Amino acid sequence: MNDESKNKIKERYHQVIQRGERFWPDSIFKDAIMALAIFVILILLATFIGVASEPKADPSDMSYVPRPEWYFLFLFKFLAIYGQIPLLGKIEWIATVIVPSIAIILLVLMPFLDKSPNRYYSKRIMPLSIMGVLVTSMVSLTLMADVPTGTSLPGILQTIGGLVIPGLAYILILLLAFFFKKAPATCMAWTAVAAGVLMVGFTVAVLFLAPAPVTAETVVANTVIEKIQAGQDLYAVNCVECHGEDGKVTKIEGVKGLEGKEIPAINNNDVLYTLDDASIGEVIAYGRPIAGMNPFGKAFNPEGLSKSEIDYIVTFMRYMWDDRFEKPVLKPLYPPLAAGEVPSYDVHIAPIFNRYCVSCHRKGKDNNNFWVTSYDEILKTGDNAPNVIAGDANSPLLTLISGTPIMDPADPTKELAGKMPPNNNLKPDIVAVIKAWIMAGMPQTADDAAKLTPVPVPTATPKP
Ligand code: HEC
Ligand code: HEC
Repeated sequence: MNDESKNKIKERYHQVIQRGERFWPDSIFKDAIMALAIFVILILLATFIGVASEPKADPSDMSYVPRPEWYFLFLFKFLAIYGQIPLLGKIEWIATVIVPSIAIILLVLMPFLDKSPNRYYSKRIMPLSIMGVLVTSMVSLTLMADVPTGTSLPGILQTIGGLVIPGLAYILILLLAFFFKKAPATCMAWTAVAAGVLMVGFTVAVLFLAPAPVTAETVVANTVIEKIQAGQDLYAVNCVECHGEDGKVTKIEGVKGLEGKEIPAINNNDVLYTLDDASIGEVIAYGRPIAGMNPFGKAFNPEGLSKSEIDYIVTFMRYMWDDRFEKPVLKPLYPPLAAGEVPSYDVHIAPIFNRYCVSCHRKGKDNNNFWVTSYDEILKTGDNAPNVIAGDANSPLLTLISGTPIMDPADPTKELAGKMPPNNNLKPDIVAVIKAWIMAGMPQTADDAAKLTPVPVPTATPKP
């Protein structure tokens, strides 16, 4: 500091003293009034607006995913994005311990590092630029906190906008400040402004492209019957694959990685008497990872089952398989066919496929290419496609559900596909409905079906 500016400061000090304003009690009084006002506002906000509280903590809820308070969301997002970076992501302690520690230490050392006597903004470009980038990136990380990270487009944009741009900006500003002292100070300001604009742009893009949030609860069931039925549908999608439609399976078949594995049937007293509801819920939520059953709870798998969905499955297992419970009368899988009625996809076939087949035949299963989640998929997908041919009693699907494997025409000892479902046999009346549907022309809607007349069903002859 040169003498001239020292004198200037002294002079200003005297002028202020002349005006008669003292720190004690004048400034302290002003501060106290301000503090009181903020305190009153806080009390009023807490009394009249408050914070919505979450439901009471439930220690048995294995599907609860904890989230930080909003003012920590930027750190949470920082960690999530950092974890995506291939090599660095493995060294978690850098992000969880080192980076926050450095930030806190810098904050404490600030008065010793930055000893500039100047208070004019134009003389404080370096700290202001760094602070500007920091605050913008905190706001942007907070805003993006709800968008899932990953290799999707919004995921990649987040990594660039939330980590790469601020990181480069800090480096550039520090280089300009310490190594390129000749460069005009405004370079630093412009770096900060450019980084800020880019971060805002990326944040807007991420929020715009973000996938719509998945609603946590998909089914809401109130009565016991509704719960059982909801549980049955969830069981059909998630569990039939390994345990079979009736929980009877003792040898897994048709499941990648578990082919031929012996498991206990889960529909008998041995299992249902020894495991209470909470323990079954735990098996579902935590899985039996070593044995090959993956966890289904939301805490392990964002697309997994919520606590109430797990409860529905447990209710279903209890009422249907535990002989201490009275078996309820559920609505039939499909309305019974009247004489001369042709079954339709919408009314009869979709419920059958959803109950018996969808667990193995849907997107994400890579040991087969046949999907049954829509009319079009049934008609068009599969290595042997078309698996259903209107009016053809030898359609591959009919052959398989009748219990006959399909052999490779080129090598008759080689099986192309085994009987379906591999772990179970369909009841004859269900096979009959599927047959009647294919023979009559595979109508999609009930209206289409009403225009058709049933075709007498011949027995399928296996393909050579
Ligand atoms: C990928 C195959 C697979 C899927 C899907 C699967 N399980 Fe399992 N399950 C297993 C295996 C393997 C075991 C372990 C058997 C053992 O411990 O030897 C098991 C064990 C169990 C047990 C414990 C049996 C006992 O004797 O302790 C229950 C109950 C159970 N599963 C229920 C379910 C339910 C309900 C679902 C659907 C939400 C499901 N499983 C989905 C493979 C699977
Ligand atoms: C436990 C899992 C599982 C269940 C349940 C299951 N499948 Fe399959 N399915 C497979 C696998 C795996 C293949 C691949 C071929 C093979 O390994 O036999 C397959 C193949 C097929 C194919 C030939 C696919 C192609 O690529 O052309 C048809 C058709 C088929 N299944 C129909 C059904 C029908 C209909 C049901 C329900 C009634 C059903 N499957 C239930 C596992 C299953």
